Amino acid sequence: MTHAEIIQRTTEYVRHEFERDSSGHDWWHIYRVWKTALELCQHEPADTLTVELAALLHDLDDWKLAPSADGTPVRAAAWLRTLQLDPALSAHICEIITHLSYKGAGVENQITSLEGQIVQDADRLDAIGAIGIARAFAYGGHAGRPLYDPGTPPQLHQSFEQYKASRSATINHFYEKLLLLKDRMNTATAQKIAQERHAFMEQFLERFLSEWAGEIRGD
Ligand code: ADP
Ligand code: NI
Repeated sequence: MTHAEIIQRTTEYVRHEFERDSSGHDWWHIYRVWKTALELCQHEPADTLTVELAALLHDLDDWKLAPSADGTPVRAAAWLRTLQLDPALSAHICEIITHLSYKGAGVENQITSLEGQIVQDADRLDAIGAIGIARAFAYGGHAGRPLYDPGTPPQLHQSFEQYKASRSATINHFYEKLLLLKDRMNTATAQKIAQERHAFMEQFLERFLSEWAGEIRGD
C-alpha cells in the first residue's frame, strides 16, 4: 500500500468511528490534530507517516471516551494490523498513543520521540484558544461537570489516578491543565502558536469571573 492509500483508509475508518461524538473528541478534532501535526512537520525532520497515523488514531483508546481502557491502545493496534505495516513502525505509533495524553499537572511527560512530541503539541494546541474553550465545556457537559463552582478551588494533581478521579468544574480544568500547556509545548513552532491562544483563554477567564462577580452589567 502507498502512503496515500494508508492515510486515505485510516481517515475513512476514524471518521466513521468518531462521527457521533459530542464530547469535543469528534472527527473534526482528529482532523485538526492531523493537519496541525503535518504543519509542525514542515519545521521538524520527522517521519510523516508515523506522525499522521499517530495523530489519526490517537483518541480511539482514550480513557475519557472508553473508561474501561487500561492505557494500552487496543483499537489503534488492531487497525494498524490491518495495514500490515513494518512491526517497528506500528509499535512506535502505539507507544506514542500510550503516552500522548495529559495525566495531571505534576505528572512527568513520557513522550520522547520527535514524532510523538509533534502529535502531542498538535493535540494540545487543540485544547487551548477559542476551540479549546469550546471543547472544555463540551467535555464538561458530557462528563456531567458544573460550569463553575466558586467553593471548590483548582488542584494541581500529582498522579494520574488523582487527575482521573477529579469531578471538579470545567473552569477548574483551565487552571489544572489548559493554562499550563503553553509552557509544556515540545516544538518551537507550537510554543509560538500557543502564546496567543493562551492570552485569549486568560481574557475569557477574566471576563467569565467578572460577570460571575456581577462586575459587568452592560450599562
Ligand atoms: P488529552 O488526551 O491530553 O486529555 P484530548 O484530545 O483527549 O487530550 O482532549 C481533552 C479535551 O477534553 C480537552 O479539550 C479538555 O479541555 C477537555 N476537558 C474538559 N474538561 C476536562 C476534564 N475535567 N478532564 C479532562 N479533559 C477535560
Ligand atoms: Ni485528542
